[in-house]
Amino acid sequence: MLRSSFQRHHCLFQKAVLGARFHTRCLSVGEQGTFAEGLEEAVRLLKEDQIVGIPTETVYGLGGNALSEKAVSKIFEAKNRPPDNPLIVHVSSLSMLKSILPNNDIPKLYLPLLNAFWPGPLTLLFPKSELIPDIVTCGQPTVAIRFPKHPITQALIEKFGKPVAAPSANTSGKPSPTLAEHVCRDLSGKIPLVLDGGACNVGVESTVLNGLTVPPVILRPGGITYEQIRAVPGFEDVRVYQRDFSDKEMEKKPPTPGMKYRHYAPDAPVILVECDEGVEDTLQKIASEIQNASAKVGVLRTSSFPLKHRGLPVVEYSLGDGNHPDQVARELFKGLRILDGSGVKFIIVEGIKEDHEGLAVMNRLRKAADKIVTSV
Ligand code: TXA
Ligand code: MG
Repeated sequence: MLRSSFQRHHCLFQKAVLGARFHTRCLSVGEQGTFAEGLEEAVRLLKEDQIVGIPTETVYGLGGNALSEKAVSKIFEAKNRPPDNPLIVHVSSLSMLKSILPNNDIPKLYLPLLNAFWPGPLTLLFPKSELIPDIVTCGQPTVAIRFPKHPITQALIEKFGKPVAAPSANTSGKPSPTLAEHVCRDLSGKIPLVLDGGACNVGVESTVLNGLTVPPVILRPGGITYEQIRAVPGFEDVRVYQRDFSDKEMEKKPPTPGMKYRHYAPDAPVILVECDEGVEDTLQKIASEIQNASAKVGVLRTSSFPLKHRGLPVVEYSLGDGNHPDQVARELFKGLRILDGSGVKFIIVEGIKEDHEGLAVMNRLRKAADKIVTSV
């Protein structure tokens, strides 16, 4: 029902279930004329402590006034987000950043990172001030903050004049949305407005970096790569959580991204193939097991050799060339959603190397996977 009622750029949604509270309006703001209208409407809603779907360069966010407990609680409710998973606060300038930090003080060690990567897909942990309600950080003494690059969301935060808390705008546990239509599918009836700013450029979420510890730690790999961060003075020793070390105590705590809860998963079970060799053998083996149940199988491709389907009902979707991980990152969540929407019973994914954006891609895929195949 949702799919048939969705029109690409300007549409109304209403969830066909009891308890729907909103007609969800999806407003294209990429074109002349609608930009001002969209921003005005979104600012009006934010001022009323409503929440709005917003485009960012990484994934779509579900934004609300970060200084309002009431608005932030609506974010948790609409996403069905576990109450101990803290949110990222979005700012539109360094002066707005300062205004929410204790003593208006930006930690000095962050300055080279801010120069290099802000605005952009890098989230940093800062000491939390009293201004930020506890519900945003789930009681943590730190707050995650980022300055997004997308011009629509920058303009929106600037016009609103206050920081905006925004998790990814998916139902908790599902793949993050990289198109406005993904937000509508997950949250229709639950929010009043989605600003459609087109496809997200980066396609995976921001990197979450804690520079307040020695050595600094990448808690979640994302749009700014490990290689880029390591090249910044003071961050040569940065470590990647789960790749370079793990910490049982830390995993019990809420702030460790994606540790405690299932993430990024479509409805169909995901089988991730991580072997360097014999990808086709593995795919065929899995496919023939599945054939017994005569199920349609989706394959997310990152290589280009032709796959032998052997008469199986296989739906292929290319994520791009695995040697260009930025392309794969851009397509990843969309690909998972497309195959899920095509009614496949399983989704097999060809893994890629864990360098550059490949680290974030493989992090998301391992969390989404029901099964990981590492040898033929
Ligand atoms: O690119 C992004 O970061 C997108 C766009 C919308 O900005 N947002 C996003 O938010 O991915 P979300 O809520 O889906 O993921 C935020 C992650 C969570 O895994 C959370 O655990 C972590 O950031 N986080 C938030 N506050 C934290 C804190 N104080 N300490 C450690 N991790 C924190
Ligand atoms: Mg998320």
